Amino acid sequence: MEIVIMPTAAEVGIAAGAEIIRLVTAKPDAVLGLATGSSPLGIYAELARAKAAGEIDFGLVRGFALDEYVGIPMDHPQSYAYVIRTEVVEPLGLNPATVQVPDGRAADILTACERYESDIVAAGGIDLQILGIGANGHIGFNEPTSSFASRTRIKTLAPQTLADNARFFDRAEKVPTHCLTQGLGTIMRARQIVLVAQGEQKADAVAAAIEGPVASRWPGSVLQHHEHVTIVIDEAAASKLELADYYRYVHENKPVWQR
Ligand code: F6R
Repeated sequence: MEIVIMPTAAEVGIAAGAEIIRLVTAKPDAVLGLATGSSPLGIYAELARAKAAGEIDFGLVRGFALDEYVGIPMDHPQSYAYVIRTEVVEPLGLNPATVQVPDGRAADILTACERYESDIVAAGGIDLQILGIGANGHIGFNEPTSSFASRTRIKTLAPQTLADNARFFDRAEKVPTHCLTQGLGTIMRARQIVLVAQGEQKADAVAAAIEGPVASRWPGSVLQHHEHVTIVIDEAAASKLELADYYRYVHENKPVWQR
């Protein structure tokens, strides 16, 4: 696990965005796993800046969203299909035909989830999965006690997640109670993972993911078993890490060939 602590939230997006730019430069048709929510917005802004500056072209990049609410229309501004289109596909110039979001409106949810998994495999797997983390430690919408082997499926959102996401809806009761999410097993199959977190409210989840025991109580902790994870956080999100100074030291002394 590589842990990068940036002085500010704005710098988190720039540093994490650099990982994606590096990948797409080497592999223009890379498959990205796309998180929504507020955490990755700085990454998408950095990628849009790099595209506008002519530094990179995302035209061949393919994508799979991490999750979607169940039961809200695709054109609802809080549906993740809408967010992925307006925050990622359009600004970065991705081909909408090669970007998928789980179908939270499917009549047959089980088949839709199985098809999502097989489409990821058919695309050659996810090269780089972008993740945020919930205050309760969820990644994707794999709430505490999700199975480490889980695949894309329907989940019930935890009360804390409903409360946290109420800020995106005009009334708290309007937050859908269910979602489709890539499983922890799906996420762990990505070849590279970049997780971003900003703010004090994420400090417990970040500390549990990085330094806690690997336990489904804190789903982010499963990432300790992944071979290529970069966690980019600001000072506030890093504030409960016991070994923060050690991570800074390691980052500053990263072998030249790995930079
Ligand atoms: C979003 C997702 C969630 C969020 C998490 C943090 O696609 O899968 O795990 O990353 O809930 O949300 P924000 O970034 O809004 O704090």
